[in-house]
Amino acid sequence: MNYEDVMKLALERGFYFPSCEVYADAQAGFWEYGPSGVSLKNKFLELWRRELIRRDGMMEIDGSQIMSKSVFEASGHLGNFADPIIKCTKCKSTFRADRTISEISKIEIPESADLEEFDNAILQNNIKCPKCKGDFENTRKFNMMFKVGIGPEEEPAYLRPETCQSIFVDFPRLFKTMRGKLPMGIAQVGKSFRNEISPRQSLLRLREFYQAEIEVFCNPAKLDNVEKFSEIADTVLRIQNDSELVSMTCKEAVESGVIPNKFVAYYLGILIEFYEKTGIDVTKSRFRKLGDKEKAFYAQVAFDFEVETTIGWLELVACNYRSDYDLSSHANKSKEKFEVVDDEQKVLPHVFEISMGIDRSLYTILEYSLKDDKEHERIVLSLRPYLSPVHVGILSLVKKDGLKEKTDEIYLQIKRKYDAFLDHSGAIGRRYRRLDEIGAPFAITVDHQTLQDQTVTIRKRDSMEQNRIKISEINSILSEFTAYP
Ligand code: GLY
Repeated sequence: MNYEDVMKLALERGFYFPSCEVYADAQAGFWEYGPSGVSLKNKFLELWRRELIRRDGMMEIDGSQIMSKSVFEASGHLGNFADPIIKCTKCKSTFRADRTISEISKIEIPESADLEEFDNAILQNNIKCPKCKGDFENTRKFNMMFKVGIGPEEEPAYLRPETCQSIFVDFPRLFKTMRGKLPMGIAQVGKSFRNEISPRQSLLRLREFYQAEIEVFCNPAKLDNVEKFSEIADTVLRIQNDSELVSMTCKEAVESGVIPNKFVAYYLGILIEFYEKTGIDVTKSRFRKLGDKEKAFYAQVAFDFEVETTIGWLELVACNYRSDYDLSSHANKSKEKFEVVDDEQKVLPHVFEISMGIDRSLYTILEYSLKDDKEHERIVLSLRPYLSPVHVGILSLVKKDGLKEKTDEIYLQIKRKYDAFLDHSGAIGRRYRRLDEIGAPFAITVDHQTLQDQTVTIRKRDSMEQNRIKISEINSILSEFTAYP
């Protein structure tokens, strides 16, 4: 199923929808999660915590979304975090230069290229405004941070464009107070903000979006001294290096030099093991090694984790070896000490980052899980049970004859432990279809026999198979089949 099918499901079944949609001045690039979306997001993040944070003994923080100007002077975002834009001289519309050139003339110019490269491409290929065919002004840079004014004097500060800056700024305190030891992983989930020129495709290019970022601080002299490497040595990665796509184990990737060291390979390995558990087909994924012109300004080595979808390859995670770029910048600007002791020597740690886009990951999981079951004329969201917004529907076959009361009793017994959806009304077939569409792996139905022998039917979403079970077995069945792997 494709982007439009996912969008229809998202709008009709409470996954996500545009923000401020009842007003004409609603801005593009802002979306809300409805109840199904929030539940899916929470479960996705619980999986992330289990498979990455707790697996690796990392710690998690929750920092401010508004940060001071000094932070972004030091981080380089005030100077460098800008997109190339072009403005039409006639209708005054503004566009991203790289995207407009690529869409009209199929010429790919990295966003970090010199501004003259864009101007030359526009001139040589006679590229005009897509709206009115007017000429463009020269390309210029547009800083993508949202500026805010603090207090009556409106002192300048910024909405963070990436969550990780608080991790870097907080590093000395966290290392000291949490009895830190290298390597040390610090993670954060939260919103980031970017003033995109052309936000589009719902969750895929937002101005306000969720990130789950991990920054691992390490001793740069020990990048091949990674105890846990054996855990992922045989894990297979698909790596795109220039135009070549190769499948190799983490061990082979390090030995052949495709991945620079065991430290980076370890984190790419646990990342792919995490995504395997989301239901995304990882044989349709790749770690794309970025060239010098494509890397972010802070990255020394960068791999984008991308997944093939019906609208092309989507970048879900940026994996950046940021070296000591951030810690040395903040140390210089703040005059605080960011060095720590490792093996009785002072070191300024290097950082490897796993920067996950949550919204895009959720979209991709939905696209991979949504099925058109033509044989049974239904749409099914075959999510892994532990990610399903609703674990189980609790239905009464009819409301009368005491069935409603018995159904309510069962619902009361389980609703604190599972995400259960109680439904008494409508044709039973339609109620099953609705549960299939929000991905509920089970439906339990109370009928007249329930009152005789304390049994119910349990229907499985994917096979549509129905069995009779005792009410006393419901808890153990749900517990077994909705547990995280
Ligand atoms: N922290 C890296 C990013 O936001 O892409």
